[in-house]
Amino acid sequence: MIIAVDGPTASGKGTIARALAAHYGLPYLDTGLLYRAVGRQVFLDGGNPDDGGDALAATSFPDGLLLDPHLRSEETGGLASRVSIHPSVRQALFARQRTFATQAGGAVLDGRDIGTVIAPDADVKIFVTAAIETRARRRWSEMRERGADVTLNEIAADIRARDERDAARTDAPLRVAEGAFVIDNSAMTREQALAAAVEAVEAARLRA
Ligand code: DC
Repeated sequence: MIIAVDGPTASGKGTIARALAAHYGLPYLDTGLLYRAVGRQVFLDGGNPDDGGDALAATSFPDGLLLDPHLRSEETGGLASRVSIHPSVRQALFARQRTFATQAGGAVLDGRDIGTVIAPDADVKIFVTAAIETRARRRWSEMRERGADVTLNEIAADIRARDERDAARTDAPLRVAEGAFVIDNSAMTREQALAAAVEAVEAARLRA
């Protein structure tokens, strides 16, 4: 069983995808981390994330970079969003994601284009979203807990810019895959969102 979980930044898709993987005993891949590693590698190389050549060169990052705590930062998220625009970068990361998705026994992947490009054949497609205010507030309290000195407005502006970039790019833009089950968790607790996700998986299994 392949489960594709897509959605914008800070929507809670990672939480849902991880919980589904644990629930069904499936391996999990956070594909955003791959783009974050490319963004981070461009930075370490002193390259320009908006330059297709620099970004493509950074796709051969060492695997150890996936463990770098800097990958989780907002700065790296912004760099990831910028390098992810280049079709050559998306192409370079495709095989790795596709191999993970099609491994025996199934997998859960989360990202922007799992249900549309990486695994259009997924058994279950879930699109997780929430109001921008909700997402900004969540990200803000998360960052404040980590001691970051940022305002809610700064976070909201950053999220808006990323949404626009991720949705406006021509190659694999963020959009709801056909047949995807949409979970808007603006007014849901984490438990309610997870219950909705499990329900989506069970409904898809009954159809299969
Ligand atoms: O999910 P995230 O915030 O870690 O993703 C960081 C950036 O990577 C996101 O802004 C766009 C890009 N990305 C992508 O283009 N396709 C994916 N499947 C996952 C992430």
